Amino acid sequence: MVRLLLLRIILKIFCNRIRDTYDARAGRYDALVRMLSLGGDSEYRRQAVAALRLRPGDRVLDVGCGTGLNFRWILKAVGPAGRMVGTDLSYGMLRRALRHPNLRLVQATASRDIFKPASFDAILSTYVITTLLDQEMIAPILGALKPGGRLVIADDTLPPGWFIGPGFMARHLLKQGWPDLRGRTLRMLRPWVADLRVTHCHLGMIYIISGTKR
Ligand SMILES: C[S@@+](CC[C@H](N)C(=O)[O-])C[C@H]1O[C@@H](n2cnc3c(N)ncnc32)[C@H](O)[C@@H]1O
Repeated sequence: MVRLLLLRIILKIFCNRIRDTYDARAGRYDALVRMLSLGGDSEYRRQAVAALRLRPGDRVLDVGCGTGLNFRWILKAVGPAGRMVGTDLSYGMLRRALRHPNLRLVQATASRDIFKPASFDAILSTYVITTLLDQEMIAPILGALKPGGRLVIADDTLPPGWFIGPGFMARHLLKQGWPDLRGRTLRMLRPWVADLRVTHCHLGMIYIISGTKR
């Protein structure tokens, strides 16, 4: 009981730190992503959204959507009858996202169960797992996805927490080494997600995991 409480407090401190960092850096985020990907970012996003195999009218959730860099691909694929929701911890990031009549933005942590079970046809999360440093978000994501729905998780293989700052990153590397988040995510998804596939881009620095909920 005490251990659980302590874990919750630590997670809250983490989340606050992450939220404050993204709030403060939101204005520079899109430019930074473009620079670090040497302009390739749009293509990786297009590939991640293609792996969702969206159909017109689908309902899609983008978890940790940030400034909404995936939105245009998703909205195009689901068309005027489709609906999408973007969630993020950081209001500063959400404030910069596109507004669209078929899009709802929600400020919330990914680990909270805020959607009705099986309410989405497809769920995407790009570059969030690495920042999150733990996998608490997987259960609420799987719960919100319909059986037969597509799940796509893309991320980079840089040291976890690098964006938050060198001190934060170093503390985590010292504590838990360099975790294999791609492997961990795959192992966790395997019982719930069929047809798991991993593709790589950007000289192997970016991976896209996709599959279908059983
Ligand atoms: C590297 S950015 C990625 C943003 C966007 N998905 C993209 O591909 O550009 C990580 C995002 O995850 C959000 N984030 C981090 N931890 C989160 C959590 N526990 N719940 C929801 N969002 C979170 C951050 O606020 C930030 O906007």
